Amino acid sequence: MTTLTALGHSCFQIETGDHTILIDPFLTDNPQATVKPDDVNPDFIVISHGHGDHIGDAVDIAKRSGAQVIANFEIVNWLGNQGVENSHPQHLGGGFTHPFGHLKLTIAHHGSGLPDGSYGGNPAGLLFTIEGKKIYHAGDTGLFYDMKLIGDAGIDVALLPIGDNFTMGPEDSLKAIEFLSPKQVIPMHYNTWPPIEQNVDAWAEAVKSQTSAEPVVLAANESLEI
Ligand code: NI
Ligand code: MN
Repeated sequence: MTTLTALGHSCFQIETGDHTILIDPFLTDNPQATVKPDDVNPDFIVISHGHGDHIGDAVDIAKRSGAQVIANFEIVNWLGNQGVENSHPQHLGGGFTHPFGHLKLTIAHHGSGLPDGSYGGNPAGLLFTIEGKKIYHAGDTGLFYDMKLIGDAGIDVALLPIGDNFTMGPEDSLKAIEFLSPKQVIPMHYNTWPPIEQNVDAWAEAVKSQTSAEPVVLAANESLEI
């Protein structure tokens, strides 16, 4: 059994029987987050790209917990300069079998600059295979046609940004769902701040009526069993 818990914005935690994986650990200054960086105890931290609302508290959590951080090569180097020693670099198109399962970095169309202005490489999407289930966290991205290729993997759960302005919005997310054809889709990266406010109920209705996926809206601290 795998449990996926929303922690607010694009931060999610995946718990398997043996491992806890924290994705995009933005908790401090996250208006949606109800847990604090000291409340989480991951053994892996996975980061989609360098922006502050994704890399978030990664340095503090990694140092305290000793969790291994997985991100692109440039972000892993930057984290090393911040004193994070336990890390594993990957890059776009590359997959690796970790103790928790397989993770492949996929393309995302966005930026990846780090909070201090350092170069953060290219942004990524995250395609996990854990206990036979495929979970796709799109990171921050606009709609792109190659989502069809990612969908060929057979996605169980897709986590898609719907906030618009910085990423794809609700309408483009419907096209993304068509390309990815996931069984279930979870919206993220919306209602955190005014520029990305969206009516998530209207989005869920549109997903139900226009796609074959089941929309699953998770408030912070709500979980989905996968
Ligand atoms: Ni971003
Ligand atoms: Mn973002």
